[in-house]
Amino acid sequence: MIFNSPAKYGIMSRFFHGFCAVSVIAALIFIEIKPYFPKGGDGRALMQYAHMQAGLFVLWLIAPRILWRSANSEPAVDPAQGRFIKAVANLTHYMLYALMLVLPILGVLTWQASGHTVDFFGITLPAIVGSGAEVKTLVKSTHEFLGNVMLYLVILHVLAALWHHFVVKDTTFIRMFGR
Ligand code: HEM
Ligand code: HEM
Repeated sequence: MIFNSPAKYGIMSRFFHGFCAVSVIAALIFIEIKPYFPKGGDGRALMQYAHMQAGLFVLWLIAPRILWRSANSEPAVDPAQGRFIKAVANLTHYMLYALMLVLPILGVLTWQASGHTVDFFGITLPAIVGSGAEVKTLVKSTHEFLGNVMLYLVILHVLAALWHHFVVKDTTFIRMFGR
C-alpha cells in the first residue's frame, strides 16, 4: 500500500525513511573516517566530497518527506506505548526531521563560506554566501555541533527501535520494516 494504513507504514513512508536513513548514516560515516586520511591527500578530499553528496540527498528528500508525513497519519503501535515513551519518541522524531532540514543547509553554507563551490554530481549549486572568516566560523561550528547531536540521536533512535522489538516486543519495528 502506498499510504500508511492504521497499523503499518506504507511504501512511500518506508522509501523516504530508508533513503534518508542510508544517506544520513553514510554522511556521518564519511565525515567520521575523513581524519584518518592524510592531510592534503586525495582520500581525504574524496571523504569530504562523499559526505557532501550524501548530505545533499537528504536535502532533496526532506521537503517531500515532510509533506508526505503531514498527509499520512502515524500507524498505531500494538500494545499502545505509555505517554512518557510516546512523548520521547515524538520529540526525537521532530528533532531528526529538523536536523535533516537544517544540517545540509548549514553544510552548504559552511563549504561556500570557506571559498568553495558546492556541486551535486557535477551540477554547481548557486552561491548563498560569499567566503568570509566570521560567517564561516559561525556556520561551521553550528553545523559541526548539530552534526554531532544528529550522530547521538541516530544511535539513540536505532537502539530504541531494537529495544521495542526485542525487549518490549511491540509492533514499533514491524510497522516500519515488517510485511
Ligand atoms: C538502521 C537504522 C534505523 C532503524 C532500524 C530505524 C527504525 C525506525 C523505526 C522502527 C521507526 C518507526 C518507529 C516509530 O515511528 O516510532 C522509525 C521511524 C523514524 N525514523 Fe528511523 N530508523 C533508522 C534510521 C533512521 C535515521 C538515520 C533517521 C534520520 C536521521 C531516521 C528517522 C526516523 C524518523 C523521523 C521516524 C519517524 C517517522 C514518522 O514520522 O512517523 N531513522 N525508524
Ligand atoms: C544530513 C546531512 C549532514 C550531516 C548529518 C552532517 C554531519 C557533519 C558532521 C558530524 C561533521 C563533523 C563534525 C566534527 O568534526 O565534529 C560535519 C562536518 C562538515 N560538513 Fe556536514 N553534515 C551533513 C551535510 C553536509 C552538507 C550537505 C555539506 C556541504 C554541502 C556539509 C559540509 C560539511 C563541512 C564542510 C564540514 C567540515 C569538515 C571539516 O572541516 O573537517 N555537510 N558534518
